Amino acid sequence: MEKRKIYMDYAATTPVKQEVVDIMQPYFTEYFGNASSFHGFGRDAKEALDESREKVAALINAQPSEIYFTGGGSESDNWAIEGAAFAARMKDPTKNHIITSKIEHHAVLHTCEYLEKVHGFEVTYLEVDSKGRIDLQQLEEAITDATIIISVMFANNEIGTIEPIKEIGEIAKKHGVLFHTDAVQAAGNIPIDVKELNVDMMSMSSHKIYGPKGIGSMYMRRGVKIHNLIHGGEQEKGKRAGTENIPAIVGYGKAAEIAKANLSHHVEELTRLSRKLVDGVLERIPYTRVNGDQENRLPGTTNFAFEFIEGEGILLLLDMLGIAGSSGSACTSGSLDPSHVLLSIGLIPEIAHGSLRLTVGDFTTEEDIDYILENLPGVIEKLRSMSPLYDEAKQAGRI
Ligand SMILES: Cc1ncc(COP(=O)(O)O)c(C=O)c1O
Repeated sequence: MEKRKIYMDYAATTPVKQEVVDIMQPYFTEYFGNASSFHGFGRDAKEALDESREKVAALINAQPSEIYFTGGGSESDNWAIEGAAFAARMKDPTKNHIITSKIEHHAVLHTCEYLEKVHGFEVTYLEVDSKGRIDLQQLEEAITDATIIISVMFANNEIGTIEPIKEIGEIAKKHGVLFHTDAVQAAGNIPIDVKELNVDMMSMSSHKIYGPKGIGSMYMRRGVKIHNLIHGGEQEKGKRAGTENIPAIVGYGKAAEIAKANLSHHVEELTRLSRKLVDGVLERIPYTRVNGDQENRLPGTTNFAFEFIEGEGILLLLDMLGIAGSSGSACTSGSLDPSHVLLSIGLIPEIAHGSLRLTVGDFTTEEDIDYILENLPGVIEKLRSMSPLYDEAKQAGRI
């Protein structure tokens, strides 16, 4: 019998949809022109570029002219924060303060640390509550005359918590501070209308919405002026140099178009499957909790904490059963440090270590969830039976 393969790691990346692959294909061989070239091949590429920009803009109700293609979510995050910081300080040297949260993706956190350590900016890292939400009062109190930008993620990649973006935007606007949000996990997974949110800049990534990797975008509201990150030619209205990756951009555009068309069904279906997963796991496995906000959350992302055991062990045994999950963000799963997100929501390291992120997506089936519910309890039981912590708790009569 062929081994089952169940992908439950859509937050790390998604498979590229067949329609997306199909539409990309001719742009490698037939319409391979450089979009800046002054001939038919160039015009074909330019046309595809413009169409894709419209599709990406439509997903978040932006104007196409407000969308800039980048090499992915990380680049967009780096660009927004560095670009804003350098532009503001050049105009007014007293402007040197950035506000972000403790649970951002490393693309934001490490950019802030770099600006702090190498360029002398000051950064405030906002605390979050036990659900992973920032405190709006704390945010407002952190703003000073020196503040340039607030960067708070739309939705967290590990626990799925959605931040109060509209309210943050209002505070930013009131104080004349720029607001950037990393919407890499949110865009295409929940409805986003930038016209309703006071967002100045927003990062998105194609490979989280069933498009190709290495391509993403930045929404930059009309009138926002920041420095460039990538210097060179005049592509992207002179704001992001480099010959455009047309096949990837075309794929990203198609993925955005599909995401927009399917959004309400997608949210409904992922919510239903996640509910089944959560209810089934909590019913079958004791000493288990779900991390993050249960109301303001992404429909497909669930983060469990199983007491007394380690996430790495769970992943290994699940992998042997053909189930692909994650013990945190893909970028940190190479390290054994407990996740900064789980520690920030107040989990003690022992419990943070026992976390498992399972994300459902467009190709997840009812049977996949059944298979997980059949197999996960045995995995957890096996690991607990070998766990000194579990033994200790039993001996001490705590369980
Ligand atoms: C919240 C968040 N921001 C940024 C990124 C980085 O995006 P990319 O992989 O496109 O560089 C990721 C990817 O895991 C993410 O989840």
